[in-house]
Amino acid sequence: MKAIKHLFGIAGLSREQIEYLVNMGESFIEVNRRAIKKAPTLRGKTIINLFFENSTRTRTSFELAGKRLSADVINISASTSATTKGETLLDTGQTLAAMQPHVLVIRHSLAGTCEFLAEHLPNTALVNAGDGAHEHPTQILTDLLTLKQAWGSPEGKIITIVGDIAHSRVARSHLLAAQKLGYTMRVVAPKTLLPAQIERYGCKVYHDFDAALPGSDAVYMLRIQSERLTDSCAFPSIREYHEAYGLNAKRLRAAGPDCIVMHPGPMNRGMEIATDVADSVKSHILNQVEHGVAVRMAVLTALCGGMQEEKSTDSGLPLSDDKAQGSLI
Ligand code: NCD
Repeated sequence: MKAIKHLFGIAGLSREQIEYLVNMGESFIEVNRRAIKKAPTLRGKTIINLFFENSTRTRTSFELAGKRLSADVINISASTSATTKGETLLDTGQTLAAMQPHVLVIRHSLAGTCEFLAEHLPNTALVNAGDGAHEHPTQILTDLLTLKQAWGSPEGKIITIVGDIAHSRVARSHLLAAQKLGYTMRVVAPKTLLPAQIERYGCKVYHDFDAALPGSDAVYMLRIQSERLTDSCAFPSIREYHEAYGLNAKRLRAAGPDCIVMHPGPMNRGMEIATDVADSVKSHILNQVEHGVAVRMAVLTALCGGMQEEKSTDSGLPLSDDKAQGSLI
């Protein structure tokens, strides 16, 4: 298995690498539940979290992940960075890289931000914490850990993902992961919130939520990404959206007794999800949050050299060569 140099997206990860990170994440759950939540794994390492978009879960869990593994962690948000003074993204990236961090975690509204910066920052490991509507790999690793805990393996299961598929990096990354790990995605959305040619991901598309429910092992609800919506007519009203695409108790019953509920957060209660469903015993939403810290501990450990490379790489290149270590795009 190739070691990880950067984490740009699920697209660049092999099934083996995904499972390795999820398994390592699982081993960190116990550390996070201890009375003293500290391990020395990343002592002496510096991690910078650079967030140009709002975040509660992802930013806090990256910060906790680094701190619980004894790294030095710095957080920068767009409103406090020099980009508000006109500095370019590249200058901000190069400035932070000049301070010699080991890892730079970046959330940005532009797709491909990490890939772009990686070309200019050769000595810094980059993690995509969400880039526009493109990818959100650590959210999917988080979800896969939650599914592992719930089911053992997602293979052969059916996950019905509902809502603003067109603007959701979570949906896109899940569609990629499903193909690699052998689970089925049913995609439910009004036509206005579906990207063109979504079927090429091998998913089944529904416009009728009720038709997609029977047989679903999980229903994964998405927030309308209003910050990315250019079309104000994507749906008539919140009430009508909730009627057609909201998960309520009746719909959850129709999905079957073992169906679980997931949501990456933040939730808009009363819109994509009813409060009684969000707070029900079927809801794994807070498990996802807990697992988000553990999985990010695994990602940071892997990027700081904790992922052992096997001697025979399929590229045949020497291990000292960066390319042989697999830049995961
Ligand atoms: C998601 C995101 O930012 O893409 N949230 C998260 O990271 N937990 C989903 C969303 O914002 O709706």
